[in-house]
Amino acid sequence: MLDIKNLSMVYETERGPIRAVNNISFSLVNGEILGLVGESGCGKSATLLSILGLVPYPGKIQSGKILFQGEDLTQKTSSEMRRIRGKDISMIFQDPMTTLNPVFKVGEQVRESLRIHDLIKATGGSWWSRRQQKNGNEIERVLELMREVGIPAPENRYFEYPFQFSGGMQQRAIIAIALSGSTKLLLADEPTTALDVTIQAQILELLRKINRVHGTSIIMVTHDLGMAAEFCQRIAVMYAGEIVEQGHTDQVLDNPKHPYTQGLLRSIPRIGATRRKLLPIPGSVPDLADLHETCPFHPRCDQVNEKCSLGTHTLREVEEEHFVKCALYC
Ligand SMILES: Nc1ncnc2c1ncn2[C@@H]1O[C@H](COP(=O)(O)OP(=O)(O)O)[C@@H](O)[C@H]1O
Ligand SMILES: [Mg+2]
Repeated sequence: MLDIKNLSMVYETERGPIRAVNNISFSLVNGEILGLVGESGCGKSATLLSILGLVPYPGKIQSGKILFQGEDLTQKTSSEMRRIRGKDISMIFQDPMTTLNPVFKVGEQVRESLRIHDLIKATGGSWWSRRQQKNGNEIERVLELMREVGIPAPENRYFEYPFQFSGGMQQRAIIAIALSGSTKLLLADEPTTALDVTIQAQILELLRKINRVHGTSIIMVTHDLGMAAEFCQRIAVMYAGEIVEQGHTDQVLDNPKHPYTQGLLRSIPRIGATRRKLLPIPGSVPDLADLHETCPFHPRCDQVNEKCSLGTHTLREVEEEHFVKCALYC
């Protein structure tokens, strides 16, 4: 359903170009959940914004293709993209208030988005009774959506404002808005980072249910490898704008090949693992305005060899459907 080929996105800043997304490729099949994992600033949000056609100034897509159901989204006009957004592709953000409008009642916002998607069809009768029925149907459908995403007592909460909702409930309302179209692809940008752990688990469970019931594909962006491990079928690990490792979740977690993935795994606690010291990866992420034609991880890497500084490397398949971009495997 989604096939991204050699996508590069840059922010043209006064300091020079910031290569937020650097020649990445990945794909997603119908109903699949893919995790896009990496430290803050590695280009995860930039990737999602590129897919949605919402790259903010001074950013621009420099090259590559984003094939969604066979059509290249990079070639769409802004009005074509507006039609695709919210209907076929929806996004949920870390902060629900960036999507909800604080001055409108939550139920009305869900209803507005239903209306935009023109899902409700008036049936028979006079103009007035059609209109009455349409209003009734719309509200009923909104309540149904609110119920589906687990908002309790939707008849009351319909009339409340976003500030009267907790963070978890706001995120549920956003998910209801996303479901009001016929979303085939849900882009989730750290949707649970701002929530406490139990609420986080509930939202993940809700997303899992939506994936199961509607077959919605999901790209889950997170800096939390543990969460991705639990939630995603496949994982792509990003570092400094590049995908450095990609494979099925168990391949990446049980048999990590890239020194960065190995480092990430050493730095998180794992349930069931024998007690061991957590080791942070030394150093810090590189400046994306100052990248060179070498592996961006090599200054922090504990397995550097002479090949590392000999130009960039390509993703290699190290076992079936498990890809790594590292000099160790070239
Ligand atoms: N509006 C912007 N203008 C310039 N640079 C930006 C802008 N937004 C993000 N960046 C830079 O792009 C890089 C990738 O950012 P982002 O995609 O937000 O990372 P992530 O979501 O992985 O934390 C970072 O280096 C960030 O500083
Ligand atoms: Mg981000």
